[in-house]
Amino acid sequence: MHRSFREIVKILDKKGSLIHIKKEVNSKFEMSAIMKKLEQEGKAFMFENINGSHYKAVGGIFTSMDRYGLIFNEDASENFTYDQAGQKVQQGISNPIPYIQIDTGPITENILINDDINLLDLPVPTFFELDTGPFITAAVGIFKKPGGEINVGFYRCLIVDKKHILINASGLSDLRKSYNWHRENNKEMKVAMVLGAPPALLMAAASKSPEHISELDVAGGMIGDGVKVVLGPKTGLPIPVDAEMVIETVVDLDNMVENTLGEFGAQYGTETAPMCEVTSILKRNDAMFYTLMAGRAKEHNNLGYLTVYGMSEMLKEKIKEVFSFVTDVVVHFDTKIGPLMHLVIAIKKSSDLQPEEVIKETFNINMGFFNLSWMAKRVIIVDDDVDPSNMDDVEWATWTRMGRAEKVYLFSDFITWEVDRAALSDKTSLRVGIDATKDMEQVDDLVRPVVPGIDNINLDDYID
Ligand SMILES: Cc1cc2nc3c(=O)[nH]c(=O)nc-3n(C[C@H](O)[C@H](O)[C@H](O)COP(=O)(O)O)c2cc1C
Repeated sequence: MHRSFREIVKILDKKGSLIHIKKEVNSKFEMSAIMKKLEQEGKAFMFENINGSHYKAVGGIFTSMDRYGLIFNEDASENFTYDQAGQKVQQGISNPIPYIQIDTGPITENILINDDINLLDLPVPTFFELDTGPFITAAVGIFKKPGGEINVGFYRCLIVDKKHILINASGLSDLRKSYNWHRENNKEMKVAMVLGAPPALLMAAASKSPEHISELDVAGGMIGDGVKVVLGPKTGLPIPVDAEMVIETVVDLDNMVENTLGEFGAQYGTETAPMCEVTSILKRNDAMFYTLMAGRAKEHNNLGYLTVYGMSEMLKEKIKEVFSFVTDVVVHFDTKIGPLMHLVIAIKKSSDLQPEEVIKETFNINMGFFNLSWMAKRVIIVDDDVDPSNMDDVEWATWTRMGRAEKVYLFSDFITWEVDRAALSDKTSLRVGIDATKDMEQVDDLVRPVVPGIDNINLDDYID
């Protein structure tokens, strides 16, 4: 079973978790200021009166991992873990179900073309002081890859004018690869941006699916049924019928334009993206505009964690395959410490040479079209009595088990993912390896104080 975007908004409303903002608000800064404050409290919101727009804007829907339970749990309980969410997507990847094409659906209730297209009618927030302008942050883009497969991913779009948007593609995205291929082969490219997509598709779109598997079919696998679509009247792309709104575009790859937006790592990011002409807007009656807080925000980051879930599973296997003495690998992707990954690897140590070996090999792991060093900022090696999933424990090990400067490895020649905004002009940025294990000669001295039998103590047996 699964629920549509609209059904989830209704459930949150019924539960009292959706805050209605009836007072008139300005889409420039005022909306984002309110969104940011509500997000911090985990509240979903609906702006009902936005200056210059007759649309309602909703967001803050998935501000915690457990909210994904609203999509799949029979009783609509908010009860889902990061692992369950990640596993759900992996199940969809293992058992994709093709989408089902039908002729009409709610999304075809209104089709705007030619002079009826006016993006300035939409309640699109301008989030931060130095942003270039208003950004659509919660839309998933659908397009055909060079091989013809349908790809879906989150891509933020700057509103340029009534009929034009820029669609941003990171260096990690299939969209960037497709832009490059279409430009080099002089082929026309079309992208449909979908707002209020089926929530399972939001999760699939945020994740990295294998080259030949479409996220649309991954979402099908997640819900146990093909996603129902109509073909976009201008792009011919498959569009989920119960989405709220769709913006069809044709991309001008010869017109690349710089734009700046506050990003998930709490820094400004300047990107160059192609100008896209809007060829139609489809929307259901009473369409809601979905917007999620830009910058370091919970809803964005919960979706972002899904991007790295599959990758971290793959990494664990690869590292354990190479080093039999590795006991655990945990990928920390927490924007509190920046936009890149931090890996903690626990080892059963038998030589002081092992940590360096693991650090160097790990940064050089081939992830397909990039090396891990591109996305990983730091690799920390700990002994197997430290919990690599608990950063407090890892911090403790770092500052209690490092007596020599040689246990810190600094690398300045790795090329970085562009979201590492401290990178130098040659695209390199600092990478750090930390050997937080006990030196072999200290193994018997640096023993952790343990209370024998503590795990067998149940306090209820002692307290009335
Ligand atoms: C809220 C949100 C916004 C995102 N914005 C962008 C973006 O503007 N450009 C981009 O390339 N990736 C963005 N991403 C990441 C991609 O959606 C994600 O990496 C996805 O796996 C890329 O899909 P693709 O490789 O199929 O293109 C965003 C992710 C989230 C959750």
